[in-house]
Amino acid sequence: MASNKTLLMLPGDGIGPEVCDEVRKVVDWMDKRRAVTFDIKEDKVGGAAYDAYGTPLTDDAMDKAQNADAVLFGAVGGPQYDNLGWDARPEAGLLRLRKEMDLFANLRPAVTFDALLEASTLKPEVVQGLDIMIVRELTAGVYFGEPRGMQMWEGKERCIDTQSYTRDEIVRVAEVAFDLARKRNKRVASAEKANVMKTGVFWRQTVAEVHKDGGYDDIELSNVLADNCAMQLVRNPKQFDVIVTDNLFGDLLSDVAAMLTGSLGMLPSASLGAVDEFGRRKALYEPVHGSAPDIAGQGKANPMAMLLSFAMALRYSFDLGDDADLVEQAAQAVLSTGKRTLDIMSAGCEAISTSQMGDAVIAELDKRAA
Ligand code: NAD
Ligand code: IPM
Ligand code: MN
Repeated sequence: MASNKTLLMLPGDGIGPEVCDEVRKVVDWMDKRRAVTFDIKEDKVGGAAYDAYGTPLTDDAMDKAQNADAVLFGAVGGPQYDNLGWDARPEAGLLRLRKEMDLFANLRPAVTFDALLEASTLKPEVVQGLDIMIVRELTAGVYFGEPRGMQMWEGKERCIDTQSYTRDEIVRVAEVAFDLARKRNKRVASAEKANVMKTGVFWRQTVAEVHKDGGYDDIELSNVLADNCAMQLVRNPKQFDVIVTDNLFGDLLSDVAAMLTGSLGMLPSASLGAVDEFGRRKALYEPVHGSAPDIAGQGKANPMAMLLSFAMALRYSFDLGDDADLVEQAAQAVLSTGKRTLDIMSAGCEAISTSQMGDAVIAELDKRAA
């Protein structure tokens, strides 16, 4: 039976609108072919919203996001906005969405597709069969801690950012990580810097308490220092199942993990809030990559991260796991035929554009649903 779901599209800047055009094809395909109907709304975010309205996110767009069943977000940013005031910067629009929707759990899966083994800068045997999930805390830590900014200290100008975590902020993201691990390979590595940061010690202790008191004794918990974690991700990434970490370390470690899959253009993400009394949760889905100003407007962007982010929306917001599998299988099939955007190009493959990649995924979806 068809159900009506509200989807807010926020394409943003740079390659954001380009990859959103491609995800729109897949959304429309689902709308026509599967048991779901999407009521699609669209608004501006980032530099595009600043150009139109003088702010990177209007209150109206914020309201739409709060009331949507899911938000699909492209990317924001660009050199022309780098010198704007702090709150006018494109990135401030994204941070406001995350904070006000309370999207504390950012799931960043790094999965390698066999067809792309050669696109990775690592040896095939290191990355083949890789399937890890980074759970990044997204609404606290140094991204939001106070005080921050310029101040005078002992007669000198200095600038401060504050790393801060409450117990609850750690508990809820640790629970998400343990719950995910239970459906996977039952291992969680918690990454922090407990050797130099007080918040690192608190993070480690709190995650251990959640593990012990939360009934997670079927899950194996290990602690890893974040710098070592970055090195281990490159040395032997398959040792990991779920990695849970704070906002800043999660940002860095997920970019590292992205390259294991061949390109930043392949990595999707889901940013999730708490489940409410009606079983609903706020959610925003976005590629891990940014607006890529160096390739914007040239049809070179890889839309896979955006398409796979929509697959995550089907799985986590709409309980349509089979349809999510379908999108992922179609993506995999396209790559197996040797079609490549430039970021994942290798010898003997066929170079195609952003929109050709979207069309190729639709053609594979058609084959599967025929
Ligand atoms: P970036 O992710 O935009 O690009 C890094 C490199 O990866 C570039 O060489 C780019 O061409 C390439 N790349 C990224 N996505 C790709 C794709 N889909 N297909 C092919 N190649 C791709 O990071 P950056 O250059 O450090 O940042 C550019 C701007 O994006 C900055 O303003 C930054 O703040 C912003 N940014 C936004 C987000 C977001 O909106 N979620 C995330 C990261 C960076
Ligand atoms: C990401 C980005 C953002 C972050 C920026 C654009 C605010 O790098 O989503 O990974 O630092 O979280
Ligand atoms: Mn990032």
